[in-house]
Amino acid sequence: MRYDDDLNFVFANTPKVVFGDGAIADLGTMLSEMGSERAVIVTDPFLAEKTDLLDRVQKAMGPRCAGAFTGVVPDPTAASMDAGAEQARSLQADALVSLGGGSAIDSAKAMAVVLSEGGQILDHEGYHALTRPLLPHIAIPTTAGTGSEMTMVTVVKDPARGQKTFIGSHFLHPVLAVLDPSLTVGLPARLTAATGMDAMCHAVESLFSSLRQPFSDACALQAIEMIAAHLPRCIEQADDLEARGQMLIAASLAGTAFSNAMVSLNHALAHSLGARFGIHHGTANAMLLPHTMRLFAEDAAEPLSRAAKAMGIDTKAEQAAEATAAWMEQFLVRIGLTDRLADYGVTDANLEEIADMALADGSIIYSPRPIFEIQEMVALLRKAL
Ligand SMILES: NC(=O)c1ccc[n+]([C@@H]2O[C@H](COP(=O)([O-])OP(=O)(O)OC[C@H]3O[C@@H](n4cnc5c(N)ncnc54)[C@H](O)[C@@H]3O)[C@@H](O)[C@H]2O)c1
Ligand SMILES: [Fe+2]
Repeated sequence: MRYDDDLNFVFANTPKVVFGDGAIADLGTMLSEMGSERAVIVTDPFLAEKTDLLDRVQKAMGPRCAGAFTGVVPDPTAASMDAGAEQARSLQADALVSLGGGSAIDSAKAMAVVLSEGGQILDHEGYHALTRPLLPHIAIPTTAGTGSEMTMVTVVKDPARGQKTFIGSHFLHPVLAVLDPSLTVGLPARLTAATGMDAMCHAVESLFSSLRQPFSDACALQAIEMIAAHLPRCIEQADDLEARGQMLIAASLAGTAFSNAMVSLNHALAHSLGARFGIHHGTANAMLLPHTMRLFAEDAAEPLSRAAKAMGIDTKAEQAAEATAAWMEQFLVRIGLTDRLADYGVTDANLEEIADMALADGSIIYSPRPIFEIQEMVALLRKAL
């Protein structure tokens, strides 16, 4: 891969990763090594009440568990995060253990900010505004998708503005990511596909980002290869523990890639669709990805030809965008994710508004070439209607 002559980058420290079937069994020791005696679990009501996951994690933590905040909502709102911080404060938490998908992990990150810095979460909006290490956080993902366990970002929904906003800081990295494949076998096929495609989008977008660099590229390429091989297996057989484990690792690698090289246009549009129409983050990203890859055919020919290799496609650089986009369309059919924007009530009349919102999204500036034209985005969205 060629890089600009003036290549310069930072590759940030990511959390220590513990991987293995049954890895949560050592949570008590992990907390003890961190000096935590009152750790609070952060999870959502479905995982708390309809699965045995909360119970399993609580048992593994033993007497070092001081309680649980079970009020995480999907696409967490600022208010839900502030409420979580309040409960953790009243439990005198000295550490947080997030259990769930990106929504639980992001909630714990935001709660740590409020507990350590004070105020409310929206007081800390933006990048690199945090000033000190936060309450330690162990992240235990139960979806293989967002990679939030590895990233320096939390995504916060602000219903007052109808928008998602971000807090980004190296202090947001969890101290530990515990990847235990057995926790993801209960994830239904649809969510497995959608969250897996979120990871695929992180890998592809970081690979052609204007901030791409050798370390993030290595993570992204490995993630693409692993997702291509293992996501279909997770759909075909939910309890394929080997495939589930490989997907957890791939999602974390893709998280590491995009935490350093960022995502761009595809995510900017998906964030807007999520905020405006409530479309699941991974699903929105998946619907748009082949079209975004074609849009950047010339600007991202080389990164996409490397992606092609990772997908197992033999193609020339000049045909890489079309070859990888067509491959991606077939992959989406294979994993049963064939939604259209219209299925969610989006009409042609909404597209300018979505494009307008995406222009204000912080991710868009990392696109392989600058994107300013609303109509260029409208044309892309129209292909997914
Ligand atoms: N911080 C980051 O770096 C980052 C990156 C990408 C996305 N995100 C954010 O992550 C959120 C989306 O996260 P997500 O896609 O993981 O979804 P999610 O956390 O909202 O979970 C989706 C649903 O899946 C259920 N679920 C989770 N694990 C399960 C399991 N093992 N078995 C059965 N059900 C299970 C949950 O209860 C929930 O109902 C969004 O808010 C998005 O903005 C953050
Ligand atoms: Fe994402």
